[in-house]
Amino acid sequence: MSRGTFYITTPIYYPSSNLHIGHAYTTVAADAVARFKKMTGYETRFLTGTDEHGQKIERAAKAIEKTPQEFVDEVVAGIKHLWGKLEVDYDDFIRTTEERHKKVVSVIFQKLYDQGDIYKASYEGWYCTPCEAFWAESRLEEGNCPDCGRPVELLQEESYFFKMSKYADRLLKHIEAHPEFILPTSRRNEMVSFIKSGLEDLCVSRTTFNWGIPVPFNDKHVIYVWVDALTNYISALGYDTDDDSLFKKYWPADVHLMGKDIVRFHSIIWPMLLMALGIELPRHVVGHGWILLESGKMSKSKGNVVDPVVLIDKYGVDAIRYYLLREMPFGADGSYSEDALVERINKDLANDLGNLVSRSIAMVEKYFGGQVQAPAAAEGPDREIIDLAEETPAIVEEYVDRTDISGALSAIWRLVGRANKYVDETAPWALAKDPAKKDRLSTVMYNLAESLRFITVMASPFMPNLPARVWAQLGIDGRPELHTWESLTWGRLPAGTVVKRGQALFPRIDIEGKNK
Ligand code: ME8
Ligand code: MG
Repeated sequence: MSRGTFYITTPIYYPSSNLHIGHAYTTVAADAVARFKKMTGYETRFLTGTDEHGQKIERAAKAIEKTPQEFVDEVVAGIKHLWGKLEVDYDDFIRTTEERHKKVVSVIFQKLYDQGDIYKASYEGWYCTPCEAFWAESRLEEGNCPDCGRPVELLQEESYFFKMSKYADRLLKHIEAHPEFILPTSRRNEMVSFIKSGLEDLCVSRTTFNWGIPVPFNDKHVIYVWVDALTNYISALGYDTDDDSLFKKYWPADVHLMGKDIVRFHSIIWPMLLMALGIELPRHVVGHGWILLESGKMSKSKGNVVDPVVLIDKYGVDAIRYYLLREMPFGADGSYSEDALVERINKDLANDLGNLVSRSIAMVEKYFGGQVQAPAAAEGPDREIIDLAEETPAIVEEYVDRTDISGALSAIWRLVGRANKYVDETAPWALAKDPAKKDRLSTVMYNLAESLRFITVMASPFMPNLPARVWAQLGIDGRPELHTWESLTWGRLPAGTVVKRGQALFPRIDIEGKNK
């Protein structure tokens, strides 16, 4: 039964070069949320894609003597390959060079012009090409872009403008009435003061380069790349086309997920465009922190990027996904280092989860010839671990609903920790020595096996390759009804299940050898 629809998006990335683990973080986080929502009964749609127009791309292509289209085609192939390696299971991938997108952008631009929200005027202003953003002189910092600190260029031209000033009050009222529109709260406060400091009308066309969607009624101009890009969230749903069934079904978006660098575009320009078009606003604009290196923010232009493909090949996709999703605290910046990555894998995955699985399976084999026995009455710490297992799914769901992925994983790992402690408390090896304790030993083994099932079901949206490997060892690979979210009521694992030891789920990484 469907609990409703759920629509989540990532930013559409600039295919100006290959992506790094910062981009991988956003995409994997959105993928985990999408998988989670699917698993918990929502009709879910997950959109990602690429933002292919603009001067930045045009220049990058020129630098290596390619046409912009050839250039982006190659980079996009690499991006899709990366998402494949990261097990990112998107429902749609939109490219802004696609006809289906360009058509919608033109229609919208025309509509806004016809209704007087876009007008022509002469313009002089400062432009940051890496950010594709205009700045009023008063906002510059020491003459540079206040976002990235790089030099800006003075532009002077006849341009089209979007009447942002007209919608500022309405937007402020919306933000006040919907405290969860911009998350987390720190981002929301920044946006409120930004709007209150005064919004000028937005320059929404350019004449100094060609790589863009032409203004439909004046082909000397191309449409400003952010207006083009933001529209992807509805063009991908077929808004204002012959078949707008996806738009009707999934809009408004539940979550636009992104890094804090672009929250401003999504919580000011985008909602104002939607207001002007009479379209409902997205429910949540969520800005996560940055992954920082010791040398500062990772960025293509700084050349200090960490390539996710290399990491996946070295450590495995589940380990990389776990690390990214766990290490990045909700709302704050996280730091990346390969040492921290290895430490996480060794501690949380090899030691805590991996050992729990291997020793539980090994004990069932040793004491019961591999067959899980029916449990006897609960005693000692049994109630505690059962209660924790039963309450954890709802806790995980609450975290995911706040887009606090790290919190969700911590909650699952509390159960991992509790199960390890349970082994120590119940000391099965001692019970095994006393034939009179056979029933007790059966109960302890059952509780461990059932805990493993709970942990694996809950971890599956975050680590999509993990389940198959655990199900094989737990002997329930042919029992899909025991892998679902609804199956998370204690005691579903049938007595008589036959477990089978397999390879270590996460082999320990030798710290010395990590760079080999
Ligand atoms: O801004 N840490 O594309 P982009 C965490 N095309 N996340 C990071 C990161 C880091 N160090 N670096 C990048 C654009 N990101 C526009 C978007 S949407 C209509 C248009 C992630 O390729 C983060 O999600 O520069 C950030 O918002 C996004 O990549 C920027 O990607
Ligand atoms: Mg950027």
